[in-house]
Amino acid sequence: MPKSVFISNVLPQAARDLIPKDVSVDYNETDTPLPKTELMTRLRGKDGLICQIVTTVDDEVLAQAPSLRVVANVAVGYNNIDVAAARRRGVVVTNTPDVLTETTADFAWALLMAAARRVVEADHFARSGRWTRWQWDLLWGADVHEKTLGIIGFGRIGRAVARRALGFDMRVLYHDGVRADAATERELRAAPTDLATLLRESDFVTLHTNLTPETHHLIGERTLRTMKRSAVLVNASRGPVVDEAALARALREGGIAAAGLDVFEEEPTIHPDLLPLANVVMAPHIASASRETRLAMATLAVKNCLAVLEGKPPLTPVP
Ligand code: GLV
Repeated sequence: MPKSVFISNVLPQAARDLIPKDVSVDYNETDTPLPKTELMTRLRGKDGLICQIVTTVDDEVLAQAPSLRVVANVAVGYNNIDVAAARRRGVVVTNTPDVLTETTADFAWALLMAAARRVVEADHFARSGRWTRWQWDLLWGADVHEKTLGIIGFGRIGRAVARRALGFDMRVLYHDGVRADAATERELRAAPTDLATLLRESDFVTLHTNLTPETHHLIGERTLRTMKRSAVLVNASRGPVVDEAALARALREGGIAAAGLDVFEEEPTIHPDLLPLANVVMAPHIASASRETRLAMATLAVKNCLAVLEGKPPLTPVP
C-alpha cells in the first residue's frame, strides 16, 4: 500500500522535497490552523501527520484517523498533542529538539537585553521627533553584567541561555526537577536552587520549562510577589506558564520592573492589560524563527515522519 502524509500547514519546499515520490502528500500550504472538522477529514486514511503547534491533536482527532502511525510536530514543545492518547493508539509522536536550542537561547537573550536596556522604548523615542538634545537621565535601564540570572527549566535551552551568561559574568541559579550533572554545573557555573530562592535572589528570571499541569501559572500573583521589584521576567517557553493578568498587575504597580515575552496564554491574543505597558517587550512567538533553524526544524520533522513510515525508529521521539 502506498503511504500517505498530511502536512497541515506551510512547510519549506526543501523539506518537502525529502518525501519520496511514492508517498502521497496532502499539503495545506497556508499557515492558518485548520478547523478541527477539516483536520479530521483530511487525516482520514493518512499514515503520517506533519504539524505545527497551531494544530491540536487530541484523542477525538486521533480516533478519526485509525491508520495514523506518526505525528511529527515541527516544534520542540508538544503540548498541542495528547501524547498519552497517541501512545494508547500506537501512534508515535516526534518533536524537533536540539536544532532550535541555540536560536531560541539567542532570542531569550534578545528579550532580556531589550527589556533591561529599554531598547524598544528607545527605538520609539528616537523615531518620535521628541529627541531634541542629549539627556543625562534619558531611558535609564538596568545593568545585565555581573547580576544574578535565574533559569527555570534547565534543559537544553535553559543551559544554552546559561552558557551565554558566562560572557556577562553573571551568577547563575537554576531550578529544575532534574539536577544537572556536576560537570555541567561547573562548566556553566550554575547552581541548583529551590524556586523561592531563585525568585527572591534573581535580577533576571527566564522561563524554559515545558507546559504541564505543574508549570501552569507557575509565575502568578504569589510568585511574582517574591521577586525583586527591580527584576526582569523573560518567557520564551509557553504562555500559560505565566498568569498574564497577575503579570500585568505586577508590571503596572512596580512589583517587578520589566518583562520580555515571546509567548502568551491565548495566542495570538495578548492580554489587554499588557498592551499599554511600556515596560514589556513583546514578540509574536518567534524565538526559533531564524531562516536556518526553521528549515532544520522542518527537515527533522519530515525525517521523523518518514522513519516511522519506513518502520524505523524516529530520530527524535518525544520522551
Ligand atoms: C516553539 O515554540 C517550539 O516549541 O518549538
